[in-house]
Parts: sequence; structure tokens; C-alpha cells
Amino acid sequence: MAYETIIVEIEDEVALIRLNRPEALNALNATLLDELSAALTEADRNDKVRAIVLTGSEKAFAAGADIKEMSTKSYVDVYDEDLFGAQIEAITRIRKPIIAAVSGYALGGGCELAMVCDFIICAENAKFGQPEINLGVVAGIGGTQRLTRFVGKSKAMDMNLTGRFMDAAEAERSGLVSRVVPTPKLVPEAMAAARKIAEKSQIATKTVKEAVNRAYETTLREGLLFERRAFHALFATEDQKEGMAAFLEKREAQFRDR
Ligand code: HXC
Repeated sequence: MAYETIIVEIEDEVALIRLNRPEALNALNATLLDELSAALTEADRNDKVRAIVLTGSEKAFAAGADIKEMSTKSYVDVYDEDLFGAQIEAITRIRKPIIAAVSGYALGGGCELAMVCDFIICAENAKFGQPEINLGVVAGIGGTQRLTRFVGKSKAMDMNLTGRFMDAAEAERSGLVSRVVPTPKLVPEAMAAARKIAEKSQIATKTVKEAVNRAYETTLREGLLFERRAFHALFATEDQKEGMAAFLEKREAQFRDR
């Protein structure tokens, strides 16, 4: 399918989705978020895709929601359309793993979009921030909530109150990103990680997403119970038999998602 604001390529069972509004540093407008949620939903349904990488350009993952598009809206407008609520909600329902590969600016909605992905790999030039405070508003799709869970209250308050940017080293130190790589290696590294994931049993990778997300969304007790039952349930799969047999026979497992 042809899109106006994103580019989708499928390579080695990985869908690589690039945000592509270079004239506005990939600012998130309604078209982009509609196309992105549609492309992710499509990738989730496509049997040829087993993992997804979401990236931007070298200069910007995304510099936030499109200020031009938002600036004249009223409270009733944004309340009524629930600005970006439905699209972000749709992204949280994607079951295949999504890696955000962040180079350059990930600000406001850009930082929030990266945090909706399952994990973030960033380039050495990455800059994360929640500068909405400078516009007289606050974060609207997770910048006060997900960021707090990633980096804790003190840094989340600092970022949201001062609007300062966090560089790649600080982002890694604070647990916002899983790895930092040299800028030119960002997409190859994220694609290699996605290919690694694509080799696994999809029943298991989808279960990992469900289980880790429980750590954010429920109590420890509920999360541990979910994890234990999920672990038990995977013994009903052929992939568990194959994975363990392959280990014992000292060969590579051939998972069939069964
Ligand atoms: C619309 C944007 C934009 C944005 C950049 N541009 N960010 N357009 N919305 N968020 C446009 C600029 O207007 C400019 O267009 C072009 O992209 C290049 O940007 P420059 O500012 O000239 O680049 P530079 O000097 O390198 O500065 C980069 C920057 C700065 C530091 C990232 O652009 C910036 O501060 N952007 C805004 C960041 C921000 O406040 N984000 C939060 C948005 S609110 P022209 O046509 O002039 O060349 C938000 C809320 C989310 O995200 C919640 C939603 C529910």
C-alpha cells in the first residue's frame, strides 16, 4: 500500500517503517498517525512479518506533534477527536514486537511514540525531551506517565517541567533506551535485533510482550501470576517441545509457531 508520510519495506521477515515528513522533522500529524497505525496493523496481520522496526531520519525520529496543525484547535476540537488517542491505542494493541530506532530528535509526541514501542535502540546523536511545557501545554500521549515508569519521578519531572533534552548517554543510564549505537549503525543494528527476534517462536515472543507489559499495568502479584501461567501454557505448544529437543540434540531449533 502507498503511503504519503511513511515508507514501509519488508526484508527478512522484518517490517521497517520510516516516518517520512522531512520538511517538518517528522512531526506527527493526523495523516501520519493514521498511516502509521494502519501500517502497523497490516504488519501485525502479515504472515511474512515477524518483527517491526520503527525509525525516522538521521536528524529526527519525530520532533513532536505537528504544532502547525494543532495550534488553532479549541478544547472542544481536541476533546472531541481525542487527539491521537485512537491511533496510539491501536499501536499498543500490536502483538508483534516493535523496536523504535531513534536518531536525532525524539521530542514530545516523538518521545512518547518511541515509548509506545517495545524497546528503544538509539543513535549517539539522539535527543529525547518533553518540551510541551514551552508551548503552554503538557504531554498528551504518555510523556508524564510512561516516561515516569521508564526513568522515575525525578527525571520525569525534570524533563516535563524544564523541557530540557536528554542525550543518548543519559537516556541509556536512566533506562529509557536499551542500547546506544554509533549513528550510522542505528538501522542495521535495530534490523539485526529484529531479525534475531524473528527467529524465535512467535507464540513465545507475543507472550513476552504480554508478560512484560503486565509489569507496567498491574501489581507485582498479578504480573507474577500471569507470567507463571504463561510459562505453564507454553508447554502446550510444539515450539516448546522443539526448542528443548533442539537444545538437547545440540542443533538449531526450527520453530513453526505452533
Ligand atoms: C511542526 C515542526 C515541528 C513540530 C519542527 N518543525 N518541529 N513543525 N511541528 N513539532 C518544522 C519547523 O517549523 C521547520 O519548518 C522545520 O521543521 C525544521 O525545524 P527547525 O526548527 O528549523 O530546525 P532546528 O532549528 O534544527 O530545530 C529542531 C528542533 C525544533 C529543536 C527539533 O524544530 C523544535 O523545537 N521543534 C518543536 C519541538 C516540540 O516542541 N515538540 C513538542 C510538540 S507538542 P520550516 O517550515 O520553518 O522550515 C507535542 C504534544 C504531543 O508533541 C501530544 C499529542 C496528543
